[in-house]
Formats: sequence, structure tokens, C-alpha cells
Amino acid sequence: MRQQRLSGGSGMLVSRLCLGAMSFGTTVDEQTAFQILDRFVDAGGTTIDTANCYSFWVPGSRGGESESVLGRWLASRGSHDDLVIASKVGSGLGPDGTAEGLAPQVIREQLDGTLRRLGTDRVEIYYAHREDRVTPDEQTIAAFHETVTEGKVRVLGASNHAAWRLAETRGLARARGETPYTVVQQRYSYLLPRPATTLPEGGHVHASEELLDYVRTRELTMFAYTTLLWGAYSRADKPLQEHYLHPGTDRRRGALARVASELGVTANQVVLAWLIEHDPPIVPIVGVSSVAQLDEAIGAVDLQLPAELRKVLDEAA
Ligand SMILES: NC(=O)c1ccc[n+]([C@@H]2O[C@H](COP(=O)([O-])OP(=O)(O)OC[C@H]3O[C@@H](n4cnc5c(N)ncnc54)[C@H](OP(=O)(O)O)[C@@H]3O)[C@@H](O)[C@H]2O)c1
Repeated sequence: MRQQRLSGGSGMLVSRLCLGAMSFGTTVDEQTAFQILDRFVDAGGTTIDTANCYSFWVPGSRGGESESVLGRWLASRGSHDDLVIASKVGSGLGPDGTAEGLAPQVIREQLDGTLRRLGTDRVEIYYAHREDRVTPDEQTIAAFHETVTEGKVRVLGASNHAAWRLAETRGLARARGETPYTVVQQRYSYLLPRPATTLPEGGHVHASEELLDYVRTRELTMFAYTTLLWGAYSRADKPLQEHYLHPGTDRRRGALARVASELGVTANQVVLAWLIEHDPPIVPIVGVSSVAQLDEAIGAVDLQLPAELRKVLDEAA
């Protein structure tokens, strides 16, 4: 599978498709999760995305299930030196039932919990899962920097951040001689929600044009989630959410159908290929519940969109 070097000087390589592990241990059982993980690695995939809180909202779950399944799978293969494991902190439930936030003690305790569940002494990428506008940024930045100097984390990332918050906190980290975020993870796909609608999923922040411009100009690495819109590109049982229903969506769906048909591939594959060759380049994260779904996604990694078809997709708006 094609690889991409992370921006920011770490030299670390990530696979151009990232496997989302959010559902592992909850809606995807452990045996199926192991089959999916094995297939991903067999196909050359290296980069796997999880979080401390996955998936506490599933009835009967408390969070940590995804990392625990990953931990048992990592133990079964003996080493994770050839993999890039990304996890996150900040979106779990705090003691008062709201988001746990990014206070230094939360970062320290939650990272230790993540490493314990994964059975490793390091994660390659560690994200602030969402903004915390209450804790002073200096404290959050210092705590994240410490995770790097202690060797528990290689690279820092920010997810669900407004562009200006990303720029501000990165500037602050540099001014303090501490480690800035160099990876961004935001919601993004080919279809776009109506501007100014609020996404119903708590904490999800869509990549804005401003954020994409910042990533492009300042050479950050961008990961995108919910790239397949939960299956809505191909499945009647997964209708598009209301805030995606607008004339631009009709035009983009038309363009997708045309390009998929001309290339003899699926709409999901066109979406993933479009993201991978995006400006700025994007590493799509895919959540899958079967090996067959994963195989469809893997088939997109080497798909080159001819320039004239890319134009068809870009110009449908
Ligand atoms: N940073 C954040 O705040 C954040 C938020 C959300 C997600 N994420 C990350 O992104 C990953 C993926 O996100 P997501 O699950 O929200 O979105 P997604 O990848 O768009 O949707 C995943 C679902 O789409 C369906 N699907 C996948 N491949 C398919 C295919 N080839 N054909 C038909 N249906 C297909 C499956 O539904 P069924 O299971 O019903 O078959 C699958 O569970 C997560 O695992 C997580 O790592 C991060």
C-alpha cells in the first residue's frame, strides 16, 4: 500500500489509508476485528486510528473497548514496531458527565490508560480529540509536550479544532519551545453539508476551506474521518443526513456516478481516491464492519483519477 511521510520533521511514514477501529469491541466483535486488522496489515496498511473513549455511547459499553481489542491483537502478533497507532484524549466523559477536556492530569492519566489497554509503551500519534477552551492552553501544550519528551508519544495531533485555534496553539507551542500539533483530524468527505449547519454528532467538526488552506500552506498532515458517510454513498439503508440534502449534493452525486461508471469502480472508491489525491493530500480513515468492506476501500488506494475526471468531480459544487 502506498505510504506518505508525515509533515513536521518526524520522518514517520503512514499508509495512505488509515483503518478506523472505533467500533472494534462494541458493534464489531473481536473475532471480526482481528480478521479486519489482519487483512489490513496483509495489504500493507500500517496506520490504525482509535481513542480512549471508543465507544462509550454504545449501550453496555464504557469506552476503552476499541483500545483493548487492539491491545489483544497487537499482543497476538508480538510487536507493533511496523505499525502507526493513533489514539486520542479529550472526548471521554469527565466526572460531571461532560467532555473530560485537556487538563494536564487528564492527559497524563488517560495516556497511561491508553498504553495499558494497548499493551504498548508508546503511541505514534496522540491527538487532542476536541478543543478545551477552559483549560489554559499553556497547560495543555506543556502536558502534551511532556508525553513526547517522556517517549510515550512520537507526534502530536489536533482533531475537531477550528483553524484559528490550531494556528494559535501551534504558535504558542513553538514560542514556548514545546512540541506543536503537526497532524490534523477533521470530518471531511466528497459530499459537503450545507454551510452553517451544525453536525448532530457531538464534537464532530467539519474541515472548513480555511482549515484546508492552513494545512496546505503550513504543511501539516491531514486525516479525515466519516469519509464514507457511514455507507450513504452506496446503501439504501444508510440515507444521507438531512443537512447533506441540497442542490450541490445532487450535482456531486451525479459526478460521482459518472466517474465511477467510466472507471468501472464503486462510488466509495472514487471518494477515497479523490481524498487521497486531494490538495492538500488527505489520509482517509475508514470504519468497516467486514473484510469485504475493507477490500473495497483498499481497492481505492492505487486508483489514479485521470485529470479530466478529477476536474469533473472538483467542478461539481
Ligand atoms: N476524530 C473524531 O472525532 C472522529 C469521529 C468519528 C470517527 N473517527 C474515526 O474515523 C473512523 C471511521 O469513522 P465512521 O465510522 O464515523 O465513518 P465511516 O468510515 O464513513 O463509516 C463506517 C461505516 O460505513 C459502512 N461502510 C464502510 N465501508 C463500506 C462499504 N465498502 N460499503 C458499504 N458500507 C460501508 C459500515 O457500516 P455498517 O457497520 O453498518 O456496515 C461502516 O461501519 C472511526 O473508526 C474513527 O477511527 C474519528
